[in-house]
Amino acid sequence: MSVRRLHPDQPNSFAFTAENEAWAAATIAKYPAGKQASAVIPLLMRAQEQHANWLPEPAIRLVADKLGMAYIRVYEVATFYTQFQLGPVGSKAHVQVCGTTPCMLRGAEALKDVCRQKIHKDQFHLSADGAFSWEEVECAGTCANAPMVQIFADTYEDLTPELLEKVIDGYAKGTPPKPGSQIGRVASSPEGGFTALTDPSLYDGSTIGSWQKRLTEADAKSAAATAAAAAAEKKA
Ligand code: FES
Repeated sequence: MSVRRLHPDQPNSFAFTAENEAWAAATIAKYPAGKQASAVIPLLMRAQEQHANWLPEPAIRLVADKLGMAYIRVYEVATFYTQFQLGPVGSKAHVQVCGTTPCMLRGAEALKDVCRQKIHKDQFHLSADGAFSWEEVECAGTCANAPMVQIFADTYEDLTPELLEKVIDGYAKGTPPKPGSQIGRVASSPEGGFTALTDPSLYDGSTIGSWQKRLTEADAKSAAATAAAAAAEKKA
Protein backbone atom coordinates (compact mmCIF):
# COMPACT_ATOMS: atom_id res chain seq x y z
CA MET A 1 0.00 0.00 0.00
CA SER A 2 1.41 3.35 -0.95
CA VAL A 3 1.12 6.73 0.73
CA ARG A 4 -1.58 8.68 -1.06
CA ARG A 5 -0.93 12.40 -1.30
CA LEU A 6 -2.11 15.15 -3.61
CA HIS A 7 0.15 15.83 -6.57
CA PRO A 8 2.51 18.80 -6.03
CA ASP A 9 1.51 20.42 -9.34
CA GLN A 10 -2.12 21.49 -9.21
CA PRO A 11 -4.30 23.62 -11.50
CA ASN A 12 -5.42 26.96 -10.02
CA SER A 13 -9.09 26.17 -10.36
CA PHE A 14 -11.63 23.56 -11.36
CA ALA A 15 -15.21 23.93 -12.55
CA PHE A 16 -17.66 21.37 -13.86
CA THR A 17 -18.69 21.68 -17.49
CA ALA A 18 -22.29 22.82 -17.99
CA GLU A 19 -23.32 19.24 -18.67
CA ASN A 20 -21.59 17.91 -15.54
CA GLU A 21 -22.95 20.81 -13.49
CA ALA A 22 -26.51 19.78 -14.44
CA TRP A 23 -25.68 16.14 -13.74
CA ALA A 24 -24.25 17.06 -10.31
CA ALA A 25 -27.37 19.04 -9.38
CA ALA A 26 -29.61 16.12 -10.39
CA THR A 27 -27.42 13.66 -8.47
CA ILE A 28 -27.42 15.75 -5.28
CA ALA A 29 -31.21 16.10 -5.52
CA LYS A 30 -31.60 12.31 -5.29
CA TYR A 31 -30.64 12.39 -1.61
CA PRO A 32 -32.99 13.42 1.23
CA ALA A 33 -32.48 16.81 2.89
CA GLY A 34 -29.43 16.74 5.13
CA LYS A 35 -27.94 13.66 3.43
CA GLN A 36 -26.30 15.42 0.45
CA ALA A 37 -22.86 14.27 1.60
CA SER A 38 -23.82 10.82 0.30
CA ALA A 39 -23.21 12.17 -3.20
CA VAL A 40 -19.51 12.68 -2.50
CA ILE A 41 -18.22 9.61 -4.36
CA PRO A 42 -20.23 10.05 -7.59
CA LEU A 43 -19.32 13.76 -7.72
CA LEU A 44 -15.62 13.07 -7.18
CA MET A 45 -15.73 10.36 -9.86
CA ARG A 46 -17.34 12.75 -12.35
CA ALA A 47 -14.74 15.42 -11.56
CA GLN A 48 -11.97 12.88 -12.10
CA GLU A 49 -13.40 11.74 -15.44
CA GLN A 50 -13.62 15.35 -16.58
CA HIS A 51 -10.03 16.07 -15.58
CA ALA A 52 -8.04 13.51 -17.65
CA ASN A 53 -8.83 10.76 -15.13
CA TRP A 54 -7.16 12.33 -12.11
CA LEU A 55 -8.57 14.40 -9.28
CA PRO A 56 -7.07 17.86 -8.74
CA GLU A 57 -7.21 19.58 -5.35
CA PRO A 58 -9.53 22.42 -6.50
CA ALA A 59 -12.07 19.75 -7.53
CA ILE A 60 -12.02 18.35 -4.00
CA ARG A 61 -12.85 21.82 -2.63
CA LEU A 62 -15.55 22.34 -5.27
CA VAL A 63 -17.26 19.07 -4.34
CA ALA A 64 -16.98 19.90 -0.62
CA ASP A 65 -18.58 23.33 -1.18
CA LYS A 66 -21.40 21.80 -3.21
CA LEU A 67 -22.18 19.24 -0.52
CA GLY A 68 -21.68 21.49 2.51
CA MET A 69 -18.82 19.31 3.75
CA ALA A 70 -15.55 20.29 5.40
CA TYR A 71 -12.65 20.14 2.92
CA ILE A 72 -10.86 17.60 5.13
CA ARG A 73 -13.82 15.18 4.92
CA VAL A 74 -13.73 15.11 1.11
CA TYR A 75 -9.94 14.95 1.16
CA GLU A 76 -10.22 11.86 3.38
CA VAL A 77 -12.50 10.15 0.87
CA ALA A 78 -10.30 11.05 -2.10
CA THR A 79 -7.12 9.85 -0.44
CA PHE A 80 -8.66 6.64 0.97
CA TYR A 81 -10.12 5.02 -2.15
CA THR A 82 -7.69 3.95 -4.87
CA GLN A 83 -10.41 4.52 -7.47
CA PHE A 84 -9.38 8.17 -7.15
CA GLN A 85 -6.14 9.16 -8.83
CA LEU A 86 -4.34 12.01 -7.13
CA GLY A 87 -1.87 12.82 -9.91
CA PRO A 88 -1.66 12.62 -13.71
CA VAL A 89 -2.18 9.13 -15.17
CA GLY A 90 -1.58 7.63 -18.59
CA SER A 91 -3.80 9.06 -21.30
CA LYS A 92 -4.57 5.58 -22.65
CA ALA A 93 -4.53 3.48 -19.49
CA HIS A 94 -3.71 3.54 -15.81
CA VAL A 95 -3.02 -0.07 -14.81
CA GLN A 96 -3.89 -0.93 -11.21
CA VAL A 97 -2.28 -4.23 -10.27
CA CYS A 98 -3.85 -6.01 -7.31
CA GLY A 99 -1.09 -7.12 -4.95
CA THR A 100 -3.21 -8.57 -2.13
CA THR A 101 -2.66 -12.17 -0.96
CA PRO A 102 -4.71 -14.23 -3.51
CA CYS A 103 -3.33 -12.23 -6.43
CA MET A 104 0.16 -12.20 -4.90
CA LEU A 105 0.11 -16.01 -4.56
CA ARG A 106 -1.09 -16.37 -8.18
CA GLY A 107 1.60 -14.21 -9.79
CA ALA A 108 0.95 -10.50 -9.16
CA GLU A 109 4.68 -9.85 -8.79
CA ALA A 110 5.26 -11.00 -12.37
CA LEU A 111 2.47 -8.65 -13.52
CA LYS A 112 4.20 -5.77 -11.75
CA ASP A 113 7.39 -6.71 -13.59
CA VAL A 114 5.50 -6.34 -16.89
CA CYS A 115 4.39 -2.86 -15.82
CA ARG A 116 7.95 -2.00 -14.77
CA GLN A 117 9.25 -3.06 -18.19
CA LYS A 118 6.50 -1.74 -20.42
CA ILE A 119 5.44 1.41 -18.58
CA HIS A 120 7.92 2.73 -16.01
CA LYS A 121 10.25 1.16 -13.45
CA ASP A 122 8.34 2.95 -10.67
CA GLN A 123 4.61 3.13 -10.04
CA PHE A 124 2.86 6.53 -10.30
CA HIS A 125 5.12 7.63 -13.17
CA LEU A 126 4.03 8.16 -16.74
CA SER A 127 5.51 6.11 -19.57
CA ALA A 128 7.85 8.00 -21.90
CA ASP A 129 4.98 8.80 -24.30
CA GLY A 130 2.60 9.72 -21.47
CA ALA A 131 0.12 7.03 -22.56
CA PHE A 132 0.46 4.68 -19.59
CA SER A 133 0.98 4.62 -15.84
CA TRP A 134 0.58 1.93 -13.17
CA GLU A 135 0.28 1.33 -9.46
CA GLU A 136 -0.17 -1.53 -7.01
CA VAL A 137 -3.53 -1.55 -5.21
CA GLU A 138 -5.29 -3.66 -2.62
CA CYS A 139 -7.98 -6.25 -3.40
CA ALA A 140 -10.31 -5.20 -6.21
CA GLY A 141 -12.85 -7.93 -5.51
CA THR A 142 -12.20 -10.49 -8.24
CA CYS A 143 -9.97 -12.75 -6.11
CA ALA A 144 -11.52 -15.94 -7.55
CA ASN A 145 -9.94 -15.01 -10.89
CA ALA A 146 -6.57 -13.91 -9.51
CA PRO A 147 -4.28 -12.40 -10.56
CA MET A 148 -5.95 -9.37 -12.03
CA VAL A 149 -5.55 -5.71 -12.97
CA GLN A 150 -8.08 -2.91 -13.16
CA ILE A 151 -7.92 -0.29 -15.91
CA PHE A 152 -10.33 2.58 -15.25
CA ALA A 153 -13.75 0.88 -14.83
CA ASP A 154 -12.75 -2.52 -16.29
CA THR A 155 -11.07 -5.57 -14.76
CA TYR A 156 -8.81 -8.06 -16.59
CA GLU A 157 -8.58 -11.38 -14.80
CA ASP A 158 -6.80 -14.77 -14.87
CA LEU A 159 -3.71 -13.00 -16.13
CA THR A 160 -0.24 -14.24 -16.96
CA PRO A 161 2.58 -11.85 -17.85
CA GLU A 162 1.98 -12.62 -21.54
CA LEU A 163 -1.76 -11.93 -21.25
CA LEU A 164 -1.13 -8.63 -19.46
CA GLU A 165 1.26 -7.62 -22.24
CA LYS A 166 -1.56 -8.31 -24.71
CA VAL A 167 -3.96 -6.16 -22.67
CA ILE A 168 -1.51 -3.25 -22.56
CA ASP A 169 -0.71 -3.61 -26.27
CA GLY A 170 -4.45 -3.57 -26.98
CA TYR A 171 -4.84 -0.26 -25.14
CA ALA A 172 -1.81 1.13 -26.99
CA LYS A 173 -3.48 0.32 -30.32
CA GLY A 174 -6.86 1.61 -29.16
CA THR A 175 -8.37 -1.88 -29.28
CA PRO A 176 -8.39 -3.16 -25.70
CA PRO A 177 -9.47 -6.78 -25.23
CA LYS A 178 -12.84 -7.66 -23.74
CA PRO A 179 -12.74 -7.20 -19.95
CA GLY A 180 -13.15 -10.15 -17.59
CA SER A 181 -11.36 -13.50 -17.62
CA GLN A 182 -8.61 -13.59 -20.21
CA ILE A 183 -8.68 -17.40 -20.40
CA GLY A 184 -12.30 -17.56 -21.46
CA ARG A 185 -14.07 -18.76 -18.35
CA VAL A 186 -17.44 -17.26 -17.54
CA ALA A 187 -17.26 -15.17 -14.37
CA SER A 188 -15.59 -17.45 -11.79
CA SER A 189 -16.74 -20.82 -13.19
CA PRO A 190 -14.16 -23.62 -12.72
CA GLU A 191 -11.11 -23.67 -14.97
CA GLY A 192 -11.31 -26.69 -17.32
CA GLY A 193 -15.04 -27.28 -16.84
CA PHE A 194 -17.25 -28.49 -14.01
CA THR A 195 -16.01 -31.23 -11.68
CA ALA A 196 -18.98 -31.36 -9.30
CA LEU A 197 -22.74 -31.85 -9.79
CA THR A 198 -22.07 -33.59 -13.09
CA ASP A 199 -24.69 -36.40 -12.61
CA PRO A 200 -27.18 -35.86 -15.47
CA SER A 201 -29.94 -37.45 -13.39
CA LEU A 202 -29.86 -34.32 -11.25
CA TYR A 203 -31.05 -32.26 -14.20
CA ASP A 204 -33.97 -33.00 -16.48
CA GLY A 205 -34.60 -29.51 -17.67
CA SER A 206 -36.52 -28.30 -14.62
CA THR A 207 -35.03 -26.61 -11.63
CA ILE A 208 -35.75 -29.55 -9.33
CA GLY A 209 -34.92 -32.20 -11.92
CA SER A 210 -35.44 -35.93 -11.52
CA TRP A 211 -35.49 -35.51 -7.77
CA GLN A 212 -39.07 -34.23 -8.10
CA LYS A 213 -40.16 -37.55 -9.65
CA ARG A 214 -38.36 -39.54 -6.97
CA LEU A 215 -40.01 -37.53 -4.20
CA THR A 216 -43.47 -37.90 -5.77
CA GLU A 217 -42.96 -41.68 -6.07
CA ALA A 218 -41.73 -41.88 -2.48
CA ASP A 219 -44.77 -39.93 -1.28
CA ALA A 220 -47.15 -42.24 -3.20
CA LYS A 221 -45.43 -45.36 -1.82
CA SER A 222 -45.65 -44.08 1.71
CA ALA A 223 -49.36 -43.17 1.29
CA ALA A 224 -50.09 -46.66 -0.11
CA ALA A 225 -48.29 -48.30 2.83
CA THR A 226 -50.26 -46.18 5.32
CA ALA A 227 -53.56 -47.07 3.59
CA ALA A 228 -52.68 -50.80 3.56
CA ALA A 229 -51.80 -50.72 7.26
CA ALA A 230 -55.07 -48.94 8.06
CA ALA A 231 -57.06 -51.50 6.02
CA ALA A 232 -55.30 -54.41 7.74
CA GLU A 233 -56.05 -52.90 11.13
CA LYS A 234 -59.75 -52.51 10.23
CA LYS A 235 -59.98 -56.14 9.12
CA ALA A 236 -58.47 -57.37 12.34
S1 FES B 1 -6.85 -10.32 -3.93
FE1 FES B 1 -6.66 -9.58 -5.94
S2 FES B 1 -8.72 -9.16 -6.47
FE2 FES B 1 -8.87 -9.80 -4.42
